[in-house]
Amino acid sequence: MDRYAVIGNPIAHSKSPRIHAEFARQTGQDLDYGRILCAPDRFAETVHAFFAEGGRGLNVTVPFKEAAWRLAEERSPRAEAAGAVNTLIGLADGRLRGDNTDGAGLVRDLAGNHGFAFAGRRVLLLGAGGAARGVLRPLLETGLAGLTIANRTAEKARELARMVAGPAAGLGAATGCGLDGLVGLRFDLIVNATSAGLGGEVPPIPDDCLAPGGWTYDMLYGDRPTPFCLWGQGHGAAKALDGLGMLVEQAAESFRLWRGLSPRTAPVIALLRAGQA
Ligand SMILES: NC(=O)c1ccc[n+]([C@@H]2O[C@H](COP(=O)([O-])OP(=O)(O)OC[C@H]3O[C@@H](n4cnc5c(N)ncnc54)[C@H](OP(=O)(O)O)[C@@H]3O)[C@@H](O)[C@H]2O)c1
Repeated sequence: MDRYAVIGNPIAHSKSPRIHAEFARQTGQDLDYGRILCAPDRFAETVHAFFAEGGRGLNVTVPFKEAAWRLAEERSPRAEAAGAVNTLIGLADGRLRGDNTDGAGLVRDLAGNHGFAFAGRRVLLLGAGGAARGVLRPLLETGLAGLTIANRTAEKARELARMVAGPAAGLGAATGCGLDGLVGLRFDLIVNATSAGLGGEVPPIPDDCLAPGGWTYDMLYGDRPTPFCLWGQGHGAAKALDGLGMLVEQAAESFRLWRGLSPRTAPVIALLRAGQA
């Protein structure tokens, strides 16, 4: 049976094994998908051992996405742009290919599942960590009118904006600033890619920076509405979405890369939402 797994630290909470088991059942694929708790200093040897023992693919989560990028001997353009890898694929010649499916997951959830029309829209991306980097290029490829990256540490946001203005030039324009640089600006979509919500916080952004009819999207998800979902609801968002759909969509894109099949995501999102998975 073909073996796959998600590797990270911590890993016990990961919903990926449940999601991929559902995909496999739905598409009639005979595979095993486990979870690997990896010591911080043993990532490379753990990955190599997994593939040497016949493993076919890995999902990579916190804190190893940058290490996976370094380990991959071949990388997709979107992984290259992200500087982070969340999907490792064992190639026939024994080399490892790295991809990043987080951005595709976000865009598919917003555009595909919820019908957000990116063309001509002004988008604000909050945060400049791994999650923000992972979605940058796929966001810029949607045809949006402009992307503003705002981060608590302003220089990191400016650096990201400069980065995409280089190799990915020709995509939509991006600018970077601090959270205090948002005064007077309005956005049609605000994506929260900060980890502020893990501590019950919301990034301090102006009360009026969501345009009338605008949407909010929090990459975080949980059993209850996240702090940023509550911010959206309290600031007139037409939709205030959390990141559960992104989680399932990025998994589906990994599954497609490994198995050549696109599973249906709606039933799996519904299962997770109902707390049955
Ligand atoms: N739904 C999904 O599939 C999915 C996928 C990937 C990630 N995520 C989520 O995305 C979030 C970010 O993950 P990450 O890997 O990017 O983390 P990270 O690399 O540690 O980056 C954290 C970011 O949040 C900012 N931040 C932290 N606390 C803040 C606060 N109190 N106020 C304002 N900004 C704050 C940091 O700003 P500074 O630079 O100033 O420190 C930085 O930009 C996590 O909640 C993660 O669960 C979800």
